[in-house]
Amino acid sequence: MNNIKHNFDEVIELRGTDSKKHNLYPPDVIPMWIADTDFKCAQPIVDVLVDRAAHGVYGYTTSADNFNLSVQRWLKKRFDWDIDTAWVEYAPAVVAGLVNAIQAFTRQGDKVLIQSPVYHPFHHIIANNGRTKVQNNLLLNSGRYEIDFEDLERKLKDPQTKLMLLCNPHNPVGRVYTREELMRIGELCLQHGVIVVSDEIHSDIVYEGHRHIPFPTLSEEIRNNCIVCLNPSKTFNTPGLRTAAIVIPNEDLRQAYHETIIANKADGRTIFGTLAFETAYNECDYYADQLVEYLAENVRFMMDYFERNIPNIKVIKPEATYLMWLDCRQLGMEQKELRTFMLERAKVGLHDGTIFGAEGTGFLRMNIGCRKAVLKEALVRIERAVNALNL
Ligand SMILES: Cc1ncc(COP(=O)(O)O)c(C=O)c1O
Repeated sequence: MNNIKHNFDEVIELRGTDSKKHNLYPPDVIPMWIADTDFKCAQPIVDVLVDRAAHGVYGYTTSADNFNLSVQRWLKKRFDWDIDTAWVEYAPAVVAGLVNAIQAFTRQGDKVLIQSPVYHPFHHIIANNGRTKVQNNLLLNSGRYEIDFEDLERKLKDPQTKLMLLCNPHNPVGRVYTREELMRIGELCLQHGVIVVSDEIHSDIVYEGHRHIPFPTLSEEIRNNCIVCLNPSKTFNTPGLRTAAIVIPNEDLRQAYHETIIANKADGRTIFGTLAFETAYNECDYYADQLVEYLAENVRFMMDYFERNIPNIKVIKPEATYLMWLDCRQLGMEQKELRTFMLERAKVGLHDGTIFGAEGTGFLRMNIGCRKAVLKEALVRIERAVNALNL
């Protein structure tokens, strides 16, 4: 086991590296929008990639056994979930896995349910694949998002609803669903013949007092009615390496998923993505642990800062993820004005809440996967700009 201490305060120049996050805005804006961190990934990942790059031959690659074993190890170690390595399928990214699942498990015109506000591709991939989107919107009750189970049941009952895309932990509202909530979802979906695709990409970054429960561990029946999407990329900051895993315990679902991959010829892997993925899940527990510690401190600092100095913006208390959901409705601005205000007055590039659905109106998402010093600077800028409004 590694005893490396990762330095999350290391200053790394990201401009000029084709970073989507750092290229969008001019240099005087702090980019806190798209969901990658500013951190260097774990040293064992850097080492394995540098070593392989030096080899100089980059032919077609296959590493299914080691890849599947690394998923098995991580899930057992981190979540005490025993999986069979045969359950693991590959996807170039989680969103590609969601698309494969939609194509494999539903037909044109079928309804697919999502819980809005939610990670924006959930909204788009359904219509883009000729399916119909159904929304079970989350309810904001006393500063915490909750599931509207009555509405959920009504929509799952519709015989045309075939699939539910679950986001747990949830981006952008930061919920880690409890066992009770997940059981209710699982039971309702079983009862109404709706398959659950559980996107658990944020499951490594969960804060004290909360525990991530992999959806298939709820019961044997539920395990046979769902699939799980994983990618170490959020934790280890490797999304540019395009390699994800889809865990499918049920053989029929797995076969249908696999046939879709083959039909789309979407099974080609990358050397670097595969190596990074395996190294993350086999050797880099220390990094995930230290990252959560570092981010928890960022969360504590920013929650406290908003409460004391910018009380007109309410931060939804995150149970997971480095994506903070800011309720800016008290600023009394139209959405476009809010976005422009943050960009042009505060010089902080946040994600527009309405990207995650109309339910995000009045909200902004702030990515705090950055150095503490950068976070502090961003908060000072927002405070100054808000104070100048003389509310
Ligand atoms: C819930 C969720 N799923 C998937 C992704 C993207 O994953 P990938 O790059 O593997 O498609 C993100 C990125 O923000 C996300 O928040």
